Amino acid sequence: MAQEVRGVIAPGKNEPVRVETIVVPDPGPGEAVVRVQACGVCHTDLHYKQGGITDEFPFLLGHEAAGVVESVGDGVTDVAPGDFVILNWRAVCGQCRACLRGRPWYCFNTHNAKQKMTLTDGTELSPALGIGAFAEKTLVAAGQCTKVDPAVSPAVAGLLGCGVMAGIGAAINTGNVGRGDSVAVIGCGGVGDAAIAGAYLAGAAKIIAVDIDDRKLATARTMGATHTVNSKETDPVEAIRELTGGFGADVVIEAVGRPETYKQAFYARDLAGTVVLVGVPTPEMKLELPLLDVFGRGGALKSSWYGDCLPSRDFPMLIDLHRQGRLPLEKFVTETIQLDEVEKAFERMHGGDVLRSVVVL
Ligand SMILES: NC(=O)c1ccc[n+]([C@@H]2O[C@H](COP(=O)([O-])OP(=O)(O)OC[C@H]3O[C@@H](n4cnc5c(N)ncnc54)[C@H](O)[C@@H]3O)[C@@H](O)[C@H]2O)c1
Ligand SMILES: [Zn+2]
Ligand SMILES: [Zn+2]
Repeated sequence: MAQEVRGVIAPGKNEPVRVETIVVPDPGPGEAVVRVQACGVCHTDLHYKQGGITDEFPFLLGHEAAGVVESVGDGVTDVAPGDFVILNWRAVCGQCRACLRGRPWYCFNTHNAKQKMTLTDGTELSPALGIGAFAEKTLVAAGQCTKVDPAVSPAVAGLLGCGVMAGIGAAINTGNVGRGDSVAVIGCGGVGDAAIAGAYLAGAAKIIAVDIDDRKLATARTMGATHTVNSKETDPVEAIRELTGGFGADVVIEAVGRPETYKQAFYARDLAGTVVLVGVPTPEMKLELPLLDVFGRGGALKSSWYGDCLPSRDFPMLIDLHRQGRLPLEKFVTETIQLDEVEKAFERMHGGDVLRSVVVL
């Protein structure tokens, strides 16, 4: 029996989001229905609403969530009803060329539920990142459910489902930050701050936070930043070089997703250093760089998809580190809100007032 629940949809480009009745089918083969307990508001949800990702409106927003598995379809063995899970948006296939090369975190054939959730009139919904968790219940592929220790509150655990994992992974997986490294992070929202927390966890000796908002820089310090630079007032490339003996940082993480901040990252790194782009650009953005500088500066220019994480490996490990007091995930939750407050949360995000607003159901 399909169920009717409440969920937040983005009806059209730049239109305000609203709460609607959503029809959630019973799980088919390989699928699961999850009772959502918490879902964070990520910048990517705002990109969806603004039409910056695809134009497949209406979207069922929300993708940074934790909850309890309610029911599973045929053939599902990894999770069972009652399991506490974090939802991930890259369910690994195990069979594509990336998986077969032993690099499942790059999986080129990640999958979502086959059936569609709809409005009551039958209109099919596009779930954000294949999840759609600003809803009391959602239908996903069972592989999108990663079981973790239920001792952690859903509002905190759910953050690992997107931005916080992307940031931590940008530092520890993609950037391969190690003990003693110097790291700079440009853009200190939820993703950038998580990169700072990840660099701290990995033993970076110097962590330089860059943002245009002093409030963000103050929070970045609580996540482990050793130095802060307001790039509205100070040239961040010069400042980062000055703080690293005149050379630049070993790893620079760009967590804004703009050409100008990418260029800053490119020039703020030491020779043979690494740039990690975790911020997501929009389709019209272009980058121009002297090719000789790309060659002459050497090193690695990498992008980080979801922090190059493997949910089954990384989510339980990070939850354990959190429980041991080594990863302050709770600091990312600025406020908890209701389903009908998502539009307001976008405004607050836009105004730079929050790190994460988390819808609690
Ligand atoms: N790669 C991935 O898998 C992945 C996953 C989640 C989010 N993201 C992307 O990461 C980016 C950041 O997401 P978020 O949730 O932290 O957003 P956010 O809005 O919370 O944070 C963005 C931060 O960048 C700062 N900023 C804006 N312009 C700047 C500039 N010119 N110089 C320095 N700082 C500047 C803002 O003050 C803010 O603190 C977004 O582009 C988002 O889509 C990527
Ligand atoms: Zn694969
Ligand atoms: Zn996200």
